[in-house]
Amino acid sequence: MTNMTSRPIGVFDSGVGGLTVLKALRAKAPSQDFIYLADAARAPYGRKPREMVREFAYGIAGFLVRLGVEGVVIACNTASAAALPELAQTLPVPVLGVIEAGVEAARRQTRTGQVGVIGTKGTIASGVYQRQLEALGFSVWARACPMFVHLVEEGLAESDEAELLAQCYLGDRPPIDTLILGCTHYPVLRRVIQRAAGDSVALVSSADAMAELVDRAWHAGRSAGHGRVVHYVTGDVASYQHTAKTIDALDGELIQLDVAALGR
Ligand code: DGL
Repeated sequence: MTNMTSRPIGVFDSGVGGLTVLKALRAKAPSQDFIYLADAARAPYGRKPREMVREFAYGIAGFLVRLGVEGVVIACNTASAAALPELAQTLPVPVLGVIEAGVEAARRQTRTGQVGVIGTKGTIASGVYQRQLEALGFSVWARACPMFVHLVEEGLAESDEAELLAQCYLGDRPPIDTLILGCTHYPVLRRVIQRAAGDSVALVSSADAMAELVDRAWHAGRSAGHGRVVHYVTGDVASYQHTAKTIDALDGELIQLDVAALGR
């Protein structure tokens, strides 16, 4: 049989955020095996210098390649913005980031062409979303929401603090009709963000568009695997377990990883 893979696909993020992408990938390709790496020891990535995040991405991608993955999904906007496209040119397997998928989801959704994007400081400062959206002729409003990642990692997605921060970040938005959740942690805050943005704004994330891209790249929907996931976690495993459980994405084996294993 051609085009069927039994090798796992590697997926990584700074923490639990990329699990929102992994969930969509698994829904699209139930028999595909995955390795998910959460670099919780060095999270959050969003405030760190671009060069540092790029080094993290190269180290993690190299680790995943050594484990024999079919390809790598950077389920982190900050790392995608910092390391792509260069990383894709140096790895022996294909690499996909989440930003094109987020832009594609917005392109399909918007009717007015007035699009917002929220993300980490690193992602918004890189200007990568803004450039790609403007190239499509959209007018773009962009805002960094650095505290959102902490809310998710601390399991505070449904708290008063989350409501307050969402109001602060989104209260003065212009009249957009589509808002890209440009950080893979943010879908966990979807309800809170929707309340602050109002019902007239459609929220889009890269997760679903990403699942289509992965299927196209690796025929993951026809994988000969077993639908298994192995989670590698640097840093606090108990806290990862707790938060991953609250977003219903924890089945599979969990392995604690020393961050030194991710050096280049
Ligand atoms: N979830 C990541 C992203 O999409 C990283 C968030 C962080 O670690 O700051 O950007």
